[in-house]
Amino acid sequence: MQQHTVSRRGFLKLGSATAATVGLAAVTPQVAAAQAEAERPNVTLPYPEVDLTDLATAVSSEAPQYFNYPDDSSPCIMLKLGAKAPGGVGPDGDIVAYSIMCTHQGCPLNFDAETKTLKCPCHYSIFDTELGGKMVIGSATVPVPQVELEYDEASGAVRATGMSGLIYGRVSNIL
Ligand code: FES
Repeated sequence: MQQHTVSRRGFLKLGSATAATVGLAAVTPQVAAAQAEAERPNVTLPYPEVDLTDLATAVSSEAPQYFNYPDDSSPCIMLKLGAKAPGGVGPDGDIVAYSIMCTHQGCPLNFDAETKTLKCPCHYSIFDTELGGKMVIGSATVPVPQVELEYDEASGAVRATGMSGLIYGRVSNIL
């Protein structure tokens, strides 16, 4: 009989998901990451380019960095995940950034370092930062927007160049 195992981390990400949802955790991380990469929007909307090199230098697994992008009413988080991730930049391709406004009703998301998820305290949606902001479970119906980052290998500069996905509360992602 075939046996399925669910890692502790995978279990935590799923939280109170149904048994059917738990079965999805059997997908390998590589397959899940490839699917997430393929599902990322391939359109970068014309937001201003903003230099985030200082934040990218300061970010670590223990020290997420908070900033606003593309404007002051859009709070975001920068993370260093420790493994290459969809949309990740930097020498290890593991620096990512997301909006922290929940796509359900805009509540501020909290980062859970153990599961590397963004969790909403309002109606408990959970988004996976290792999979392009994909929703794991909850009331939201779309991923949390990911900040498009560019990395210059020669200088080490990191810039925000756009946002994939619609920031909560906006009818358009164009400023
Ligand atoms: S506002 Fe986040 S789940 Fe409702």
